[in-house]
Amino acid sequence: MKKSALLIVLTLALAGLVFADHEYAEVGSVHDIMEVVQGPSMKYVSEMMKAGGPQNDDDWKHAKARASVLAEASQLLLMGARVKDEPWTSSAMQTIAGAKEAVAAADAKDVEALRAAMGTLGGGCRSCHKVYKPKK
Ligand code: HEC
Repeated sequence: MKKSALLIVLTLALAGLVFADHEYAEVGSVHDIMEVVQGPSMKYVSEMMKAGGPQNDDDWKHAKARASVLAEASQLLLMGARVKDEPWTSSAMQTIAGAKEAVAAADAKDVEALRAAMGTLGGGCRSCHKVYKPKK
């Protein structure tokens, strides 16, 4: 292929990436995100920590996956109609920060850092629930 033709193909491919024909649409409720992602993921890592923390590479991989998806799903709490007044935003931001710290701790295989990150994460869950989660 000629250099100029290659350049055109590359430009078109990049344009395709930039103008990908998809816009985020809110489908899941806060309840659904909590029931399916936040609750089970937090439980999974908390139980691992109670049992002495990740024991092998697989455990670290699973802990990281839970934390990274917790970070992703927590960002959904800050999108569209899900957003509410304070302390909604600061609580969600705390869970995002804690989940990111947990990802870094899992990368470093650092149990103490993971414990601290779980503390930050859990604090974010609690401060939002205190105000917004209906009492049973
Ligand atoms: C920004 C606010 C906010 C944050 C942060 C938050 N939650 Fe929630 N959570 C809610 C609200 C609101 C409900 C009640 C939803 C409903 O049932 O309508 C809820 C409900 C729940 C439930 C009950 C779901 C069910 O099946 O009844 C669980 C479990 C839960 N959250 C776990 C967590 C965990 C774990 C975290 C932290 C990793 C977290 N949440 C962080 C707002 C939040």
